[in-house]
Amino acid sequence: MIVLGLEGTAWNLSASLVSDDEVLFEANSAYIPTSGGIHPREAAQHFASNVIGVIGEVLSSTDPRSIEGIAFSQGPGFGPCLRIVGTAARALALKLGVPLVGVNHCIAHIEVERWKTDLLDPMVLYVSGANSQVLSYRQKRYRILGETLDIGIGNCLDKFARSAGLRHPGGPKVERLAQESERYLPMPYVVKGMDFSFSGIATAAQEAMKSASLEDICYSFQETAFSMLVEVCERALSQTDKSDLLLAGGVGANKRLQEMLAIMCSERGARFFAPKTEYLQDNGAMIAYTGLLMLSNGVHTPITDSGANPNFRPDEVEVLWIKG
Ligand code: ATP
Ligand code: FE2
Repeated sequence: MIVLGLEGTAWNLSASLVSDDEVLFEANSAYIPTSGGIHPREAAQHFASNVIGVIGEVLSSTDPRSIEGIAFSQGPGFGPCLRIVGTAARALALKLGVPLVGVNHCIAHIEVERWKTDLLDPMVLYVSGANSQVLSYRQKRYRILGETLDIGIGNCLDKFARSAGLRHPGGPKVERLAQESERYLPMPYVVKGMDFSFSGIATAAQEAMKSASLEDICYSFQETAFSMLVEVCERALSQTDKSDLLLAGGVGANKRLQEMLAIMCSERGARFFAPKTEYLQDNGAMIAYTGLLMLSNGVHTPITDSGANPNFRPDEVEVLWIKG
């Protein structure tokens, strides 16, 4: 089967063509704010100006008659952005006369990485801008075992970085500065059962700007926030007896986070997997591939149900493509 997928929840407008076993083509048009963070209306304007271009690139890479379905990111994400890709996907499906399928962006992050790592049933740590969750599959759903009680870790990093005068996205800049320090400043460590909270770290980091160096703050921010995530992942592994941990989402590109998770896994005899950055951050292939799994299992989205779903949670989706 060949499916065209459109991703456009926040910053990356991406169109991709996948078959059952490979990514055939991908075209991207990233929205990078010139100042401040991601502004939903400006991001949507960027998507509207470029969506015909990225789809055109994909269509010119193949015979459009070989495309058997159109997948699009239905949520979660910014409403104005979701409406642009949804409109484009509906128009394309109607024009080509093929089924349409709305994909949950969080599940797509997981499925593209399960595909690229060949993992059957991992524990998943999904950490991105807006989302931070620990998930595992059980009885036709990805269950959320733990999650942030306030903001996603990526947004927390980006916000702090902006307040320190660094340009968006802040995560990679904080990572670089943290490598210059090993001086730990205590920061609020908040884990409640399987859930966690980052807003206290954001406040403490801003407060520390009055007296500490940026390098020390970045180091302490990462050590505290990542330790919280490691603790929850370890508890999730021990309670479910799963033996693989998979890292998903844009913040997963952070080498210190990868290192800390790898140490925890090796100490408890579990395996740790972190795919390449191109599949960790938002990409069209993840939407196309998850759409392909859904379409192959008889799921499609009627036009009347294809509206944007900005608060779409992964456990709302019945997972019909995992057998047994
Ligand atoms: P979602 O809708 O899943 O929340 P998203 O729109 O946030 O997705 P992603 O590409 O999954 O997009 O993640 C982007 C986030 O990843 C940004 O907050 C960015 O700062 C963060 N990030 C990217 N690289 C790194 C890094 N090396 N270290 C820490 N954070 C990073
Ligand atoms: Fe994402």
